[in-house]
Amino acid sequence: MEYEMFIKAIGEYIEIDLTKYKRPQMERRINSLMCSQGFSNYQEYLNNIKKDDSCLSKFLDHLTINVSEFYRNPSQWEILKQLILPQIVEVNPSPRFWSAGCATGEEPYSLAMLIRESSAAIKPLILATDIDEQVLIKAVNGVYTERSVANVSPAILTEYFEKKEDKYHIKEEIKKMIKFRTHDLLKDTYHCNFDLILCRNVLIYFTGDTRKMLYKRFHDALRPGGILFTGSTEQIFKASQIGMEAIASFFYKRVS
Ligand SMILES: C[S@@+](CC[C@H](N)C(=O)[O-])C[C@H]1O[C@@H](n2cnc3c(N)ncnc32)[C@H](O)[C@@H]1O
Repeated sequence: MEYEMFIKAIGEYIEIDLTKYKRPQMERRINSLMCSQGFSNYQEYLNNIKKDDSCLSKFLDHLTINVSEFYRNPSQWEILKQLILPQIVEVNPSPRFWSAGCATGEEPYSLAMLIRESSAAIKPLILATDIDEQVLIKAVNGVYTERSVANVSPAILTEYFEKKEDKYHIKEEIKKMIKFRTHDLLKDTYHCNFDLILCRNVLIYFTGDTRKMLYKRFHDALRPGGILFTGSTEQIFKASQIGMEAIASFFYKRVS
């Protein structure tokens, strides 16, 4: 069995369209996992995934790269705080936010804390989604290591986390600001009328055509004037072609 056939077969089995992810990365990751588990060909590996749940769960874990951290790329969060959030709140004091591909929750929690720090008058709705149920369980628990809170200021750490032994627990007042849900960006329906969508370090794993399709879907999910916040390596070239305009590095406004 060739790689393409394996990807198609396993994709149908787990109901994730793996053909839309970039091949070199995906192939490297799958091959290294397959070898580390002692399989020498795709057919054998596929058969095992189908009959052994722990093999399937290792495959899924390995496939979705869910590294995250609080305030990832801090200077961009500063722009969000100083420039973008005030614009959003001026139009809508009860704004709708969506952290798409939120992994273990650091991104939506960073947003919730940033909003709390800005003004108690803001009444946000924050939806945070990921395809991977396991990471969402961690996100809902909200317990983090020293390393993932490295960018969090001491004041915020004291205000919104509780330190128990060597772990940092998100306080309830922040947790209850966020709704975590499973969602596959490729096949599930998108909610709409968002004031801000954060989709960072997710689209880098997809092929160029899929990225374009997803940017268009994000455009449609924003309210007119709504803003998309991307990751550092995910600039949208020719944003105007999909009705968006760059308003700062990594921030794009829906203009039509
Ligand atoms: C590197 S993490 C990004 C986390 C966070 N946004 C950040 O920038 O720190 C990428 C996340 O995208 C999720 N992901 C991958 N494919 C997806 C899909 N089709 N739909 C939704 N989430 C997906 C993965 O499960 C993973 O948690």
